[in-house]
Amino acid sequence: AFGSGVLNGCALPTRSSSMPQPQTNPSPAFTPDLDLTIRAVAAEVPILPGTPTRVWTYQAQVNAGDPAAVQPIPDSYLGPIIRVRTGQKVRITFENKLPDPRQDSIIHWHGLHTPPAMDGHPHTVVRPGERYVYEFTVTDRAGTYWFHPHPHGQTAQQVIMGLAGLFVVSDPAEDAIGLPGGEYDLPLVIQDRTFDADNQFVYDSDPMTRLMGFLGERILVNGRPDLTITAATRAYRWRILNGSNSRIYKLAWDSGMPLTVIATDGGLLEHPLTRPFVMLAPGERIELWVDLRDIPRDTTLKLVSQPFSGAEGVGMMGESGNMDHGMGGMHGQMGMMRSGNAPPLGAPLDILQVRVTRQEQETLVLPASLIPIQRHRREAAVNATTPRRIALSLRGMEWQINGKTFVMDEVAPDEIVRLNTLELWEIVNETNPGEMMDPMGMAHPIHIHGGQFQIVQRTVLPELRAGWEEVKDGYVDEGWKDTVLVMPGERVQLLMAFRDYTGMYVYHCHNLEHEDAGMMRNYRIEA
Ligand code: C2O
Ligand code: CU
Repeated sequence: AFGSGVLNGCALPTRSSSMPQPQTNPSPAFTPDLDLTIRAVAAEVPILPGTPTRVWTYQAQVNAGDPAAVQPIPDSYLGPIIRVRTGQKVRITFENKLPDPRQDSIIHWHGLHTPPAMDGHPHTVVRPGERYVYEFTVTDRAGTYWFHPHPHGQTAQQVIMGLAGLFVVSDPAEDAIGLPGGEYDLPLVIQDRTFDADNQFVYDSDPMTRLMGFLGERILVNGRPDLTITAATRAYRWRILNGSNSRIYKLAWDSGMPLTVIATDGGLLEHPLTRPFVMLAPGERIELWVDLRDIPRDTTLKLVSQPFSGAEGVGMMGESGNMDHGMGGMHGQMGMMRSGNAPPLGAPLDILQVRVTRQEQETLVLPASLIPIQRHRREAAVNATTPRRIALSLRGMEWQINGKTFVMDEVAPDEIVRLNTLELWEIVNETNPGEMMDPMGMAHPIHIHGGQFQIVQRTVLPELRAGWEEVKDGYVDEGWKDTVLVMPGERVQLLMAFRDYTGMYVYHCHNLEHEDAGMMRNYRIEA
């Protein structure tokens, strides 16, 4: 079960002890509060009128513990939603029941601080018919985490086919605040998909898609097109995940009403913040306090993604017309990448509608403060004056990090960090002079496995400032983050503490096509 021998058609490499080892049996000494089986299976779900869509989905079964801890997202390929409390021990037996023998898979618990062997490193993939037993204690603060497949080279396709769920953590500090709960606590997963004439997903991971990413023609929220939520005149908590492969959203109310942000990737902020719009890149979460109290009944509000430029630099690829420039014959592939009618990155889009249909008396007020965040101090970093540089670039039609593309069979870490240290990382999104495809760079959402970090600084190259200005007011850098959008020409400094576990993790671009194409590196925490 090591690597993707099937994928690249060569012999399986020998295992190295430096890599997390697959765990295929439950440990007798581990006594879980919640014990689940999650199967990746093929299914059919109705999405568009007419023929149902063939999907892959996670099917969950509670073996022990609270049956209500696992809820489906109704009528959707997405889900389930797993709800746990900080401190709980979970055992999750993942069974790969995908119908295609080439589809190795493994689950990554995005944002959770788990030991390396429980993190879904691509080296721990299991073949169809095999299983992987996860056992870990949830140590994270309350927040909206998620899970999805992580086999190297096949993540993008597996996510497109439907594999993704939510992992919602709660804790006493959050309980004490009194946020909207139950049906007023709404998970919303935004994705884009392209359908063929028979209502089936269209996805082709050709080289052009791997280079530029996948953009779908239709927006789906919780797996549904044109979602309209009916709501009451009261406050809601919205937990929004960008579960798209490549599409970045600039979320705003159509009416111009500001957004009230209460949480980021790693849970609640210290205080609610208002933003004219919020940037949400693949992998990122944002939570909103949506107050509909003063909205007259029968009003419809629209959540949109506003247009922005600059996510693809300012060079190529803006419109297909550019492609004629020395690239005869690429048009067909471009068409595939954008699936014909897919709106380009940065296009205006309708995301969902909210229709206020019922009057309700409700007395919840937006709390002035939420949960304290202990700030990392730059001076406390072991490399406070010499940040670890993480350079993102395109060379010879390949996305690279620090001049290299991920090699699945490599067991040596690309980066070594010390246990119990705080490090300053500087992610630099470089321009790519001489690269015809994308001379000015492209936006990359960078995700670091193993825990949460804090963003401490952003700067941008003067020549790319204009595109950046269109998005910068939508960053929410005040909270805990595990994924950070890095725009073309941008430089982001972050502080991350490496604690509790030693071993190998990855960090990578969460544009899933970029990740699959090798925009990923191994880092190892050593004692
Ligand atoms: Cu959400 Cu390594 O990924
Ligand atoms: Cu990328």
